[in-house]
Amino acid sequence: MIKVEIKTTQNRYPVYLQKGILELTGRMIKRYLSPCPVLLITDKNVSGHYAEICRQSLLREGFKPSTVVLEGGEKDKSLQSAFKLYGIALKEGLDRKSVVLALGGGVIGDLAGFVASTYMRGIPFVQVPTTLLAMVDSSVGGKVAVNHPRGKNLIGLFYQPSLVLADMDTLKTLPPREFLAGLAELIKYGIIVDKTLFQQFEHFAQISGKQQQREQGKESGFLQLDNSTLLKFITKAVLIKGKVVSMDEKENGLRRILNLGHTFGHALELATAYEYYLHGEAVAVGMMLAANLAAKLQMLGEKDAGRISALLFHLNPPAPPAGLTAKMVLNALISDKKKEGEELVFILPATIGKTVVCKSPPMEQVESVVKKYLNNHFL
Ligand code: NAD
Ligand code: GLY
Repeated sequence: MIKVEIKTTQNRYPVYLQKGILELTGRMIKRYLSPCPVLLITDKNVSGHYAEICRQSLLREGFKPSTVVLEGGEKDKSLQSAFKLYGIALKEGLDRKSVVLALGGGVIGDLAGFVASTYMRGIPFVQVPTTLLAMVDSSVGGKVAVNHPRGKNLIGLFYQPSLVLADMDTLKTLPPREFLAGLAELIKYGIIVDKTLFQQFEHFAQISGKQQQREQGKESGFLQLDNSTLLKFITKAVLIKGKVVSMDEKENGLRRILNLGHTFGHALELATAYEYYLHGEAVAVGMMLAANLAAKLQMLGEKDAGRISALLFHLNPPAPPAGLTAKMVLNALISDKKKEGEELVFILPATIGKTVVCKSPPMEQVESVVKKYLNNHFL
């Protein structure tokens, strides 16, 4: 069993990575928390596969789980859903020593974490991520939030879980498109801080790329990643994220590097009403745009920009939807929450393994890379 310790100003907690750990949910939680009522929050795609395994394991160890199955999807990350969950928690008698358990992807994790952080001024919270994205990113680091009609994650806080249990076996049922979207957040760590990790992905892409047909919609070679390589990559990601979060929990500086691709990515999601891109896909396209912008601004060499785009291309990022215009993307960019005062802030790659913060780049350059993507010149 792999254990990574995350140290923050709020607490210190373990991330366990192990195939089959779901069966041990109750036993693992009991190491840290006493038996108590547990609000097990999940969604309809996950519940049929895993909720009962998790619930039975909790029951065996003396916990009292109540399962809530949500519809799933970005619309669930709302104050309305949180309010509904507070009501269920009250009805089930959860008190300040009870636990909220998130069984699912980033949507469930962010929402359940938000509920845990606000219910009775904050109760313990356990993350059981079931998507690759949640394993390598959202379950670690304590960002919990709901959306506002004006943008994503605008209502939230930093609230660390008590522990994280990642069972790689759950990835077997994850749709391939979701897997590739999660891989974008994993490759991100290579681009921002770990050149070796990036090269390992490139190496894998080269081998598998020989079998991969490059047209849109054809299977990505990354779907052939074997379990032990994947485990190494996930562990590396958790170690990197843990290190960044321990140095800058509340995103006053360093943690911003984790937002590579997100300024463009959030704008693409917002401009398409969260209905076209998966989050990881928007981040993948966002990182391509960021590399392109960095090259245009002569902050990144053309060769490295090409390597970043080429690697991300193996994830089959979506072509732009019909009807999406540069104006729509730029308007969404301007309303991004990472805008500091009047400045629009981008994290850009400076080389592979290093980033720079770029404030208020010339809008013509930003527009030009957006247009390049919209005209399908990236993919
Ligand atoms: P998600 O939670 O919507 O899950 C993706 C889809 O996969 C859903 O349809 C879900 O039902 C399904 N699913 C989940 N696990 C499954 C499994 N094992 N088998 C079959 N189906 C499964 O999306 P996501 O990509 O995991 O997370 C995206 C969300 O995470 C966004 O809201 C984003 O803002 C947030 N996020 C948060 C952080 C953070 O630090 N808190 C970081 C990155 C992203
Ligand atoms: N996913 C970005 C962060 O956790 O800061």
